[in-house]
Amino acid sequence: MAFPTETVFGLGVDATNPNAVRRLFEAKGRPSDNPLIVHLSEVSKWRHAAAKLTPAAEALLAAYAPGPLTVVLPKQPSISSLVSAGLETVGIRVPDHPDALAILQAADIPVAAPSANRSGRPSCTTWQAVLEDLDGQIDAVYCGDAGGVGIESTVVDCCGDTPVILRPGAITLEQLRQVIPTTRGLVDTPVNLDAASRANGTSPVRSPGLAHPHYQPRAQVRLVKAPLVLSDTLDTTAYCGMHRFAGMERLPFVAIYDSVEDFAAGFYEFLREVDRRGLDRVLVEEAPEVGIGEALLDRQRRAAGL
Ligand code: TXA
Ligand code: MG
Repeated sequence: MAFPTETVFGLGVDATNPNAVRRLFEAKGRPSDNPLIVHLSEVSKWRHAAAKLTPAAEALLAAYAPGPLTVVLPKQPSISSLVSAGLETVGIRVPDHPDALAILQAADIPVAAPSANRSGRPSCTTWQAVLEDLDGQIDAVYCGDAGGVGIESTVVDCCGDTPVILRPGAITLEQLRQVIPTTRGLVDTPVNLDAASRANGTSPVRSPGLAHPHYQPRAQVRLVKAPLVLSDTLDTTAYCGMHRFAGMERLPFVAIYDSVEDFAAGFYEFLREVDRRGLDRVLVEEAPEVGIGEALLDRQRRAAGL
């Protein structure tokens, strides 16, 4: 069943049932080497998914759960190894959304839930978008509203003493460092070299999802920095950003956001609307690297195939 969270819609199944998990990977067309996040209704239920709650995870969850934070911990054996893509670890998260929490509470099982989109496509922030991708493949979608964050949770490896960001997200490095000052960002660490290290077998794969294409509409996405110059805008059929530019009115589809938070909340739906309208060349203004803008910029780069 698909359900809204404060970030994007998730597609949930019983994390202890390998058949359900297998079916979930099929419905999404998801590569089997990309692990799933297990969603819980309360932090106190961590034992349903993790074998151990490290002090780092406990401190970060105390500050940011419920919320858009996923902590990676040693896995509880009852969680299907399909969920963790064979890793010894599991990502857990308590979403900050009343409908999601009510569903998780009622289910009272650990719920493996990736974003509810076809693998590789932009994530879904509306139930209509979920049906566009997955109608006929899933049992149900809960027709509520996503919570308006618009960008997925921050995934943080908390197995050791020093937390390490594996995927940037709605909780910023700065916010994590307010709790644990030694927290390492994505660029400080070799985790995004996983594809290369996997090729020569030198280190374990820690966040396999990073190697796959993500968030891409059918339209070709080009990133631009503000202020735009006229030559940037030639040949384009849609634009989204925080700045206006002369001649913008001639484009068939434009979205202007007043804040970086609104930009993050609207970005995936903008990309999907571009595809609905059959537009083929999109200009995306790079998000400012403040607050959630850092994670938005990561998603924009991936949408552009960079
Ligand atoms: O906000 C979110 O996190 C949304 C909502 C539905 O909760 N979920 C989401 O799931 O974005 P998904 O499957 O689209 O992305 C999960 C990310 C992937 O990058 C995956 O590689 C990483 O989390 N991940 C999950 N378990 C992991 C693990 N044990 N070790 C390292 N990375 C893990
Ligand atoms: Mg996803």
